[in-house]
Amino acid sequence: MDRNLALEFVRVTEAAALAASRWVGRGDEKSADHAAVESMRKAFDSIEFEGTIVIGEGERDEAPMLYIGEKVGSGSGLKIDIACDPLEGTTITALGRSEALAVIAAAEDGGFLHAPDTYMNKIAVGPQAKGAIDITKDPSWNLKSVAAALKKDLNDLMVIILDRPRHKELIDEVRSCGARIRLIGDGDVSAAIATAQPESGVDLLLGTGGAPEGVIAAAALRCLGGDMQGVLAFRNESEKERAKNMGIEDLNRVYGMLDLAKGNVMFIATGVTNGSYLSGVRRFSGGARTHSVVMRSETGTIREIKAVHHFRTKPNYGW
Ligand code: FBP
Repeated sequence: MDRNLALEFVRVTEAAALAASRWVGRGDEKSADHAAVESMRKAFDSIEFEGTIVIGEGERDEAPMLYIGEKVGSGSGLKIDIACDPLEGTTITALGRSEALAVIAAAEDGGFLHAPDTYMNKIAVGPQAKGAIDITKDPSWNLKSVAAALKKDLNDLMVIILDRPRHKELIDEVRSCGARIRLIGDGDVSAAIATAQPESGVDLLLGTGGAPEGVIAAAALRCLGGDMQGVLAFRNESEKERAKNMGIEDLNRVYGMLDLAKGNVMFIATGVTNGSYLSGVRRFSGGARTHSVVMRSETGTIREIKAVHHFRTKPNYGW
């Protein structure tokens, strides 16, 4: 995959983040999401590549833009599969809380699991605990194994979990092991990334979140040298049907990181609101500053890009 594409793609996440940033704290999730989607969609077409959305805003009949199967880019150049989440953290953005991102992951043709829009039970760790996780075993086993890999006392382990009623048993089990927990309101892509960043203080992600977000997080962890596993979790029969229609034969399959995101992958994100890794968009009169990250699995290079945008001299994608 052309390495320069990764840098081109930053413009796409910047565009989505800039557009979403107008809606921070305004209590309107739909408008924030719509602004990010529209802006990302326009920005894609300024880039020379032949893109196909494999993870996006949903099926064609329910999403007008960035739907699964939609072609993006100029239409000539490299064939690339795109997994995108124009606004990862719609509620976060609407409430003006931290860790909202505009995100895309890119892979060579066929690199991403075509994940249905269901839940996924996930476990993710950073490079030091690679190989120490097994989602088929219970959380206690995984906590002990990760603590041993990190040479940490179990009581010093920090587990990040989405604060949801469905996680009550999981939270009880982690607490009974003596490990610590950071409960988050939303945003398990940035939570997965945090496991691979020692300065975050987070060691392990556990719990169920969106399956599409699982694929995007796997792309990031491929670049960061971490590890991840996932199992699809269905809420009803119609979700199972959808998965089968998307080509998933074994509904209980355990997906390793390479089953979720294989080959050369790239991960690109721009902060919408402030996070522990990326700063959010800071708007000033006539423009804004953005903070983005570009990662490639092939080399493991991680580039942070800080940009100053002047709206008067930029094509207007809705900011
Ligand atoms: P959105 O940006 O689509 O709102 O997703 C936020 C998120 O917290 C994801 O990070 C996570 O995977 C998913 O929602 C969890 O779903 P739910 O809110 O249904 O528990």
